[in-house]
Amino acid sequence: SVTKVHRIACIPGDGIGTEITEAAIQVLTTLQKALGTFELDFTHFDWSSKAYLERGWYMPPDWADQLRKHDAIFFGAVGSPDVPDHISLWNLILPIRKTMNQYVNVRPTRILEGTTSPLANVKRGDLDWVIVRENSEGEYSGQGGISHEDTPNAIATEVSIFTHAAIFRLMHFAFRTALSRPRKHLTLVTKSNAQRHGMVLWDKTFAAVAASYPAVTTDKMLVDAMTVRMVLQPSSLDTIVATNLHADILSDLAAALAGSIGIAPSSNLDPERGNPSMFEPIHGSAPDIAGRGVANPVGAFWSAAEMVRWLGEEKAADTLMKAVEEVTKAGVKTKDLGGSENTKSVTEAVCREIEKAL
Ligand code: NAI
Ligand code: MG
Repeated sequence: SVTKVHRIACIPGDGIGTEITEAAIQVLTTLQKALGTFELDFTHFDWSSKAYLERGWYMPPDWADQLRKHDAIFFGAVGSPDVPDHISLWNLILPIRKTMNQYVNVRPTRILEGTTSPLANVKRGDLDWVIVRENSEGEYSGQGGISHEDTPNAIATEVSIFTHAAIFRLMHFAFRTALSRPRKHLTLVTKSNAQRHGMVLWDKTFAAVAASYPAVTTDKMLVDAMTVRMVLQPSSLDTIVATNLHADILSDLAAALAGSIGIAPSSNLDPERGNPSMFEPIHGSAPDIAGRGVANPVGAFWSAAEMVRWLGEEKAADTLMKAVEEVTKAGVKTKDLGGSENTKSVTEAVCREIEKAL
């Protein structure tokens, strides 16, 4: 039989991004060897703030062509205390998401085996959500400018862009996601009381698309009230669709409520598969703990599982997630999850579980 080769572009980036990417490559390599049904061919890109400080650029002019030679992109994190965050984001992660047509960002959250929510009385299974984030426009469309910069008269605009085309395609993705899950329930999050143009377009488009999915039950929340519902009634939620900014914030809250920001994955998808999709933990470069080998690699492992699932390797994805939960169940956890292990020991434990399972 012919072994399928998946070409993976790896962008470790900065801080703990490099540590958790190395860990993810280690478990993926173990998985590939143990299964023997596919191959992963990794290409490493040193696009980072560290490189930018040395040479003055993040990505070379032909970066998009280079990435398009791959089937998927694995991304660590970008951000350095020595570079303003808007420079690092707008030179690396945001151009990739936009140019590669990765118009949805899928962020699942649940309480893993052997871990607990900081919410008293919330058990595993009470919190099992998928947040579908608009990933191409909205509050992060980059339109605006500043006049009279660095004077007391400075005036800045940060224009949100909401297009029917982008909302419509996102809503179809969100309804399909809801349909694929047992609960078949989708919650729309907006702020259409105060933001009366773009958010109302969201509400209307949601209602129109809902008509095509009679099997999905729906409700809608204003984003402020949504934070309360996430904390007080987590089991009332299942699939959630929200704007670029709102979902960015809600997904950090979701991760914390599920135990730690260190476990949460994200998939930046081009659902039409015209470009490689990109997989990354939702956390940043965590300069406060970088270089100490203590970062939780679980968010990177879960992202890696979503990546191989996207590439059609269902068994590999399921095996990896099972291994991760065997490890958390056994109490092999980093400090953010209340454990005393480090990146290396968690990674090795997951590799052993993979080998044991196959
Ligand atoms: P952060 O996610 O890097 O860290 C927030 C807190 O969570 C820190 O206390 C950190 O130690 C902890 N944490 C994060 N990931 C962890 C892990 N895997 N294991 C254990 N603890 C973990 O967010 P922050 O501090 O706001 O941003 C730091 C830098 O990262 C900034 O430069 C920011 O712009 C950048 N950033 C990049 C993102 C990306 O590349 N997609 C996303 C978010 C932030
Ligand atoms: Mg974020």
